[in-house]
Amino acid sequence: MLQTAIDAAKEAGKFLRESKGKSLKIENKSSSIDPVTQIDKQAEKIIIDTIKGRYPDHAILAEEGGESDDISEYRWIIDPLDGTVNFTHGLPIYCVSIGLEYKGAIIAGAVYEPNVDDLYTAERGKGAFLNGKRIRVSDNDRLIDSILITGFPYDIHDNPDNTIGRFTDFLMEAQAIRRLGSAAIDLCYIAAGYGDGFWEAFIKPWDIAAGMLLVEEAGGKVTDFDGKPIGADSQRILATNGKIHDIMLNVLKKRL
Ligand code: IPD
Ligand code: CA
Ligand code: CA
Repeated sequence: MLQTAIDAAKEAGKFLRESKGKSLKIENKSSSIDPVTQIDKQAEKIIIDTIKGRYPDHAILAEEGGESDDISEYRWIIDPLDGTVNFTHGLPIYCVSIGLEYKGAIIAGAVYEPNVDDLYTAERGKGAFLNGKRIRVSDNDRLIDSILITGFPYDIHDNPDNTIGRFTDFLMEAQAIRRLGSAAIDLCYIAAGYGDGFWEAFIKPWDIAAGMLLVEEAGGKVTDFDGKPIGADSQRILATNGKIHDIMLNVLKKRL
């Protein structure tokens, strides 16, 4: 099944790469800053066709098409283009993310960054890999030595308060904060040790399904903002190298 996730992610990623420069039909979804293009939808079709061709009875949750009617213990959770805002501007930070859930727990995931041809993969209990090589989280244990990564929700203009508050709280304590524009890539970068901690609220299952498994399999920790374990359906995620987890929880506690 991991191979299916890989095949689908690479095929959709190739399509994204080849779609660079095409004229985009952009529509807005939940707000005027939440775009979707025909490329997101076409990439999603490539992924679903690949999965359904091999596992016709499995359930699907895909960002653009929603939840399928299938009743199955397996659910594929798909973001065909994570980083759509970047994509619409030609900023080459975006990816395809595919996670596979079995009985409510993520068991496999693949994230593919087409612009750099990087493939992140994980299976529960078998470690996390970048292009076939084992990756591990960082071992920084102080915020002042840490790069933290975050993202902002599409309703930020209506509900700015806690997002800005948490950003400021971490900004005053970390070495640096980055906002890359793709939650799935953010999580892979924590898994690879490029960053030390990631937090985001109002996140969607397709943003985190594959990436959260990558972080755990790379030796990191993933919880809610109050330290409780989460599944793909959780709306808030804190994913770290484990060493700064409690320190970040303490900062988040100020604005729960
Ligand atoms: C978005 C990106 C972004 C995150 C948003 C997501 P999309 O996904 O992952 O980094 O901050 O919460 O919705 O819309 O580009 O697939
Ligand atoms: Ca997304
Ligand atoms: Ca998307």
